Amino acid sequence: MQLERRLIAVRAAIRDLRADGGTVALVPTMGALHDGHLSLVTRANEVADHVVASIFVNPTQFGEGEDLESYPRPEEEDRAKLESAGCDLLWAPTPDEVYPDGFSTAIRVSGVTEGLCGASRPGHFDGVAVIVAKLFNQIGPDYALFGEKDYQQLTLIRRMARDLDFNIEIIGVPTVREADGLALSSRNAYLTDDERARAAALPNAMREAAAAIIGGETVSFAIIAAKARLFEAGFAAVDYIELRDAETLEPAATLERPARLIAAAQIGKTRLIDNIAVERGQRAGAAISCQGNSDKN
Ligand code: PAJ
Repeated sequence: MQLERRLIAVRAAIRDLRADGGTVALVPTMGALHDGHLSLVTRANEVADHVVASIFVNPTQFGEGEDLESYPRPEEEDRAKLESAGCDLLWAPTPDEVYPDGFSTAIRVSGVTEGLCGASRPGHFDGVAVIVAKLFNQIGPDYALFGEKDYQQLTLIRRMARDLDFNIEIIGVPTVREADGLALSSRNAYLTDDERARAAALPNAMREAAAAIIGGETVSFAIIAAKARLFEAGFAAVDYIELRDAETLEPAATLERPARLIAAAQIGKTRLIDNIAVERGQRAGAAISCQGNSDKN
């Protein structure tokens, strides 16, 4: 696997990759890679001839008091994991290659970024939009893959790609989970053993709420019950649990259209996010499948 840190060099590497007429897929990441990230690389290999991954801990998407400085950066391990997952080229730019002196352009995707994580992380999604747009322009892929794990992020990227005519197919990849249902996340490393054991209450409460809604329970009652379950399990705070339209992210009170139950909750000092599909006719309990497998929804 080739590694590049300079834009001029990565562009030359992409030209070489494309010399055989093959297609290119991009997997953007911030590193600290786990099997969730690697599932994006595996899927990328299925859809395209060449796979480019990026690692860049993007400062503009971290708010004040968030974990920019302490965000894990295990570069050597990440490189080995990407290589064995079948990545051809790693783009790991230096910060000045991404944000040159005097950088002053902003991208705001309204609507889908309001509410949910947008409410408690002001500026976060503007930072995501600008880095992803830059990565799209730097690499010029045919496909770009993002996890459903960050559902609001995936939705804003789809919207931005459509609005700004990026000629890139955006592919969403199902969430990879631990055996007990907890979604893999780089931030799970912050959990103490006790918190880790309790953290599975989040996917469990969401699965129960989804099953209740599919079974005819009112959305508000199902959500109240899920919140109560999280507090019982020792979560310190529940930022939100909401049912939203799966495509527009507008609040949903019924299952007339495919919906998504989306949540963020804090255990100890760590904030966990998760989401699952909720659709009429879906088998109750099928919303989350575990054993390290992806959601089959
Ligand atoms: P990061 O948190 O490193 O995630 C990189 C990609 O991996 C995202 O598309 C995310 O949704 C996906 N991912 C994370 N956990 C996953 C899991 N358990 N199963 C499947 N996919 C998973 O998301 C970002 O980085 C950044 O915001 C980025 C898009 C790179 C822009 O800086």
